[in-house]
Amino acid sequence: MRILVTGGAGYIGSHTLISLLSKEHEICVVDNYVNSSPIALDRVRRLTNHDFEQHDLDIGNGPELSNVFTKFQPEAVIHFAGLKAVGESERDPLLYYHENISGAISLLKAMDACNCRQIVFSSSATVYGEPCYLPYDEKHPLAPINPYGRTKYFIEEIIKDWTKTDNNKKAILLRYFNPVGADNSGEIGEDPDGIPNNLLPFIAQVAVGRLEHLNIFGDDYDTRDGTGIRDYIHVSDLADGHAAAVNYFTKMSGVEIFNLGTGNGISVFEVVEAFKQASGKDIPFHIAPRRNGDLPAYWAESKKANNLLGWSANYTIDDICRDSWHWQSKNQEGYK
Ligand code: NAD
Ligand code: WQD
Repeated sequence: MRILVTGGAGYIGSHTLISLLSKEHEICVVDNYVNSSPIALDRVRRLTNHDFEQHDLDIGNGPELSNVFTKFQPEAVIHFAGLKAVGESERDPLLYYHENISGAISLLKAMDACNCRQIVFSSSATVYGEPCYLPYDEKHPLAPINPYGRTKYFIEEIIKDWTKTDNNKKAILLRYFNPVGADNSGEIGEDPDGIPNNLLPFIAQVAVGRLEHLNIFGDDYDTRDGTGIRDYIHVSDLADGHAAAVNYFTKMSGVEIFNLGTGNGISVFEVVEAFKQASGKDIPFHIAPRRNGDLPAYWAESKKANNLLGWSANYTIDDICRDSWHWQSKNQEGYK
């Protein structure tokens, strides 16, 4: 299939390219590198021995985006491009509403202009908000608790409305849980700008000596060891979920929503222990106050994806830590 990938140079996008290229899909990447490096794309080419189109372009640039669509004539789009830092979205909500929502609208317009009717969208478990029950299934009520999460919720709604304008339009909304780890080559991985916001890249930078110690945000939650519990999914499993989603277009109409997670909750202490084992390094930590807006625990019900997409997560937390360490130790300063 000819697939246009927005944000393909980013963390999840670059891993997804490996899955798609290994299945012989024809790819065109659009990225403005606001949070990524084109080096990731060169490495994907090298790892897969496949070439693809690459455009340095902001998806908000409607005329240029339409030109790319007209030339490439994609049969489907996978839409990763967007901003994703929760704290930043609270400090500058308009930036997030503008970039994420206007970006999505600009993309859907370009799709309309060249009759491209299939989209896979990167949504997030963050759309669920405070759990009414666990694990979250796709029918759980939606009540995102920060501007970033609300952009995901609004874009989901916009895409649903978009599909209603034509019986042949199809959308797959993928709600990711906590994507972590790296391709097992150690050649591509997560490369956050500045101090990492998220647990795994933070631990990896402590292990490699870039940061002194981890702050564990709260050990007094009502969980089995007092620390927060999340569903950490290996980014290569997540990537394969996109290839499975693209295949599912022939079997569906309208909109389908899938959680992509492992179904298992892991605590912060358990992640730290697994990373120590995988790296052979000590991970010094301090117990710090709870982080504002953090939920105590959540994990996925992913049976719908297992049953309909024929997809499931295979990697364990030990695999995740091994691959994350491999990437970080081989690329101490990321792509720089
Ligand atoms: P990322 O920042 O690594 O990748 C996003 C990519 O989009 C980057 O390459 C960035 O340069 C590009 N981009 C951003 N704005 C753009 C624009 N206006 N025009 C063109 N390119 C633009 O993030 P990621 O972790 O790979 O996440 C990919 C998607 O998945 C995002 O939409 C994110 O919100 C979503 N998501 C991520 C997580 C996570 O924890 N990583 C969880 C759930 C959902
Ligand atoms: C995981 C656990 C922290 C850092 C975020 C977004 C979410 C989604 C995925 C995009 C929590 C604890 C963390 C640290 C810590 N992204 N922690 N010390 O917050 O579950 O999810 O990424 O859609 O929307 O909110 O991920 O990795 O930041 O935190 O103790 O330095 O690790 O309290 O329990 P989170 P995370």
